[in-house]
Amino acid sequence: MYSNIKINDKSIEKAINKELKRQQEQIELIASENYVSKDVLIATGSVLTNKYGEGYPNKRYYGGCENVDVVEMLAIERLKKLFNVKFANVQGYSGSTVNAAAIAALVPKGSKILGMGLSSGGHLTHGYKINFSGYFYDAYSYDVDKNGLLDYDEILSLAKKIKPSLIICGASAYSRIIDFRKFRKIADVVGAKLMADIAHIAGLVAVGLHPSPIKYCDVITSTTHKTLRGARGGIIMTNNEEIAKKIDHWVFPGYQGGPLFHQIAGKAVAFYEALKPSFKKYQEQVLKNAKIFCDEFKKLNVDIISGTTENHLFMINVKKTFNLTGKQATEILHSINITVNKNTIPNETESPQVTSGIRLGTPAMTTRGFKEKEFVKLANIIYIVLSNHQNRTLLKKMKLEVIKLTKKFPIKG
Ligand SMILES: Cc1ncc(COP(=O)(O)O)c(C=O)c1O
Repeated sequence: MYSNIKINDKSIEKAINKELKRQQEQIELIASENYVSKDVLIATGSVLTNKYGEGYPNKRYYGGCENVDVVEMLAIERLKKLFNVKFANVQGYSGSTVNAAAIAALVPKGSKILGMGLSSGGHLTHGYKINFSGYFYDAYSYDVDKNGLLDYDEILSLAKKIKPSLIICGASAYSRIIDFRKFRKIADVVGAKLMADIAHIAGLVAVGLHPSPIKYCDVITSTTHKTLRGARGGIIMTNNEEIAKKIDHWVFPGYQGGPLFHQIAGKAVAFYEALKPSFKKYQEQVLKNAKIFCDEFKKLNVDIISGTTENHLFMINVKKTFNLTGKQATEILHSINITVNKNTIPNETESPQVTSGIRLGTPAMTTRGFKEKEFVKLANIIYIVLSNHQNRTLLKKMKLEVIKLTKKFPIKG
């Protein structure tokens, strides 16, 4: 079990312990969050946080790196094995910094890049105007069609018009399988490099439950803390030695300074866990749970973006279904201890702070032991609450149901 901490700084102690209580008492449906194992937590909170070591194993700018070298090399070897790749960089502080480094490794500044639009489910770092990717590059976006699906013919014709040097595939909020082979064909037709950002689906890809982009993409980036269930951070992988050298350069000294060795250790432990058969079982359950959760909403006539889910998440059009904004739905659910995030949806009419949708994911609650039965129950609770949000007595009753469920499934750590 995770446990309360005790430190001299009582203000921080209190905030951390309150956060533990919040995590224990709330049902966590944010698709990008998870609960790490106690081993990952211990490694992340270890003395490795004290160590500086700019550079790479056996090529550091600091002395005393013999132990952190072991940690980083183990992380690299495990990651290579997990995704069956030749080269890996594990120093990325976050998903955003690895995307910055990967793009810089692939194309010169100012190049044309083409990524998935934000309201279609893409990420800020895939070319959004207020992000580095839209500021330092000539960025364009492709969108999903009216059914919320990637239309590969449309993307091809857009790519032919734009002639990007780099195409980015991968998403933050897309519930269907991504066809990396089709993206490769498009990239080849227009002579573009191809990068896959598998931040969300990495855990599924690692165990073969989502097709791997490795054969098709020049570079793969990911976060380590979503379905992969590791310490927070980023990773970059490739099979191309020349590109691998450029990636290492762009991570350090390009975009980052000293590696966060405690985070790298937390990643290494997570990769060790992900290589075990139990991790595949976990991912299978994540998928089963997402499917039944989504199907139950569909039975209740809830509008699901892209029609269904083939991965760990899906989006609900709360505006169309409940006449609520994403912001309102998030607040209502928060009041009964269910945590979700508001999300823009295709053809969004509200601002990103308001939105018409919410995104739901199963990785975190699957870690806590939720199975199909609990997700069916949860879909009904969410439906009842969003349909009757003015009925305070009902909301109180539902909150008690939620708390009962969280007590039955504590975070094991
Ligand atoms: C697809 C994708 N890429 C990159 C990121 C950025 O990760 P980070 O928040 O660690 O910078 C995210 C985060 O949600 C993401 O969903």
